[in-house]
Amino acid sequence: MSTSSQDGAPARRIGVPEIRARKGGEPIVSLTAYTAPMAEALDPHVDFLLVGDSLGMVLYGFESTLPVTLDMMIAHGAAVVRGSKRACIVVDMPFATYEASPAAAFEAASRVMTETGCAAVKLEGGVAMAETIAFLVARGIPVLAHIGLTPQSSNTFGGFRVQGRDEARAQQIRDDAVAVAAAGAFGVVIEGVPETLGRDITASIDIPTIGIGASPACDGQILVTEDMVGLFGAYTPKFVKRYAELNPQIEAAAVAYAGDVRARTFPGSEHCFGDAKPSGD
Ligand code: KIV
Repeated sequence: MSTSSQDGAPARRIGVPEIRARKGGEPIVSLTAYTAPMAEALDPHVDFLLVGDSLGMVLYGFESTLPVTLDMMIAHGAAVVRGSKRACIVVDMPFATYEASPAAAFEAASRVMTETGCAAVKLEGGVAMAETIAFLVARGIPVLAHIGLTPQSSNTFGGFRVQGRDEARAQQIRDDAVAVAAAGAFGVVIEGVPETLGRDITASIDIPTIGIGASPACDGQILVTEDMVGLFGAYTPKFVKRYAELNPQIEAAAVAYAGDVRARTFPGSEHCFGDAKPSGD
């Protein structure tokens, strides 16, 4: 893969300050990526790629994101950095690697930063994580926060449920947004909340909000790529728009391949090697 732009200058990645500066400006475009080839395909079209711990459900078939480990995030984060050259890369901190203390969070997040080459980490939580966010930011680790329907708390919520429909919970989420902004997060993902709440929070804090099931008024949007292209069929949340249906295409290709192999029509002579090596082969 080339690391130079068309004029021969080295390609420059979008940095955290550029994302931060997009508050109230051109909408920030983001998708998830877990592998180098997916990162390469998405890289020219997004502002940042999130290596989300959703990979536990989407790639590994877990029922939640809780079993995802730091080593898994580091392996996939490094692959996405290798596969991209332009997008800002953010890697999720998995469950139980950052909640115990700011020092534990620094130890885990610094491994993510140094072993992947990513630009920032994302962690779930608002008021409860504000001290940790401030600790990491003060030590050179940019943090994207995640509030609302935080999947690592699905056991507390009793499933993947919309958050903030009642005023008490809505106020907690507003407080979370204010707390992470004050702690120095460069942005905040707001997931699974009523549209009016996503809109109000966006208007009330000075860092970019990235919506997923939140509001078109957010400063940016993110989706899980496999949801967006129809590659993950287990469950499609209401907030997902399918821009492609790849699963049926993969299945059709597998059916055609299996038929060819059984009929001995694959491989054809064009896929076979001759005895003598022709020049240039
Ligand atoms: O893990 C993930 O993919 C995420 C996005 C859904 C925001 O956190």
